[in-house]
Amino acid sequence: MRKTIFDLLDRKGSLPVSMLTAYDYHTACTIDEAGIDMILVGDSLGNVMLGYENTLAVTVEDMIHHGKAVCRGAKQAFVVIDMPFMSYQTSVEDAVRNAGRIMKETNCQAVKLEGGVEYADRIKAIVEAGIPVVAHIGLTPQSVNAMGGYRVQGKSLEQAQKLLADAKAVEEAGAFAITLECVPEALAKMITEQTSALTIGIGAGKYCDGQVLVYQDMLGYNDGFIPKFVKQYANLHSIMLQAFKEYKQDCELRTFPENSRTYSIKEEVLEELFQPELAY
Ligand code: KIV
Repeated sequence: MRKTIFDLLDRKGSLPVSMLTAYDYHTACTIDEAGIDMILVGDSLGNVMLGYENTLAVTVEDMIHHGKAVCRGAKQAFVVIDMPFMSYQTSVEDAVRNAGRIMKETNCQAVKLEGGVEYADRIKAIVEAGIPVVAHIGLTPQSVNAMGGYRVQGKSLEQAQKLLADAKAVEEAGAFAITLECVPEALAKMITEQTSALTIGIGAGKYCDGQVLVYQDMLGYNDGFIPKFVKQYANLHSIMLQAFKEYKQDCELRTFPENSRTYSIKEEVLEELFQPELAY
């Protein structure tokens, strides 16, 4: 049975919710089989799947393409798809139209968008259209240029007050969950206690109602920069690298494919085929 918004909200203040990103069918199937509660088709797609420097170039079409694959694989997890840069910032109408497209074309259960007070009107309109919304405040990667880089948010009094106001605004607009990215633990705890929405932290400490990680980060899929908040549960990069190197060597030494992996043909057929004049 697929998890619903109410199953998730029932967990507030009790059993924390688990969420991981996914961008393709097979990963979604495995995450789903593990019983992870929520899958996020994040616009981190731009960085971790498409090789962009940031998330800004990701399009609604990209999100729908990958979102469809994930939704085909997820049977029990609640799937959330990110609204990419400029798909909701431009107007309330664009926000509703693009959220509607994502829902209709992928079969996901909710959309997520970045921003607090400034985008509360978009959240309200999308929720009124019958689409569940996850808000995303704190470090909002789509505003990387305005923020001057990827930095922890909410450390100063002014920033912390703004984050509390953002959380209130998105909750009042109808967001059922709020992603808190790179926020001091004590502030995330305060927000979690002050809102009825489910808080899902990434770099926001243990008091949130749930946690989310980018699956490549937690699997050690790349050997590049890993943020401080990521716990690596595996080192897939070294396992894959070793396998690719062994395969290359096998190809060059003809130790792959072995006899057990090849198909045979009857001797008589070969003899019939053999034409000495065509042989080298
Ligand atoms: O795009 C994404 O993967 C995200 C997570 C970092 C929460 O928004």
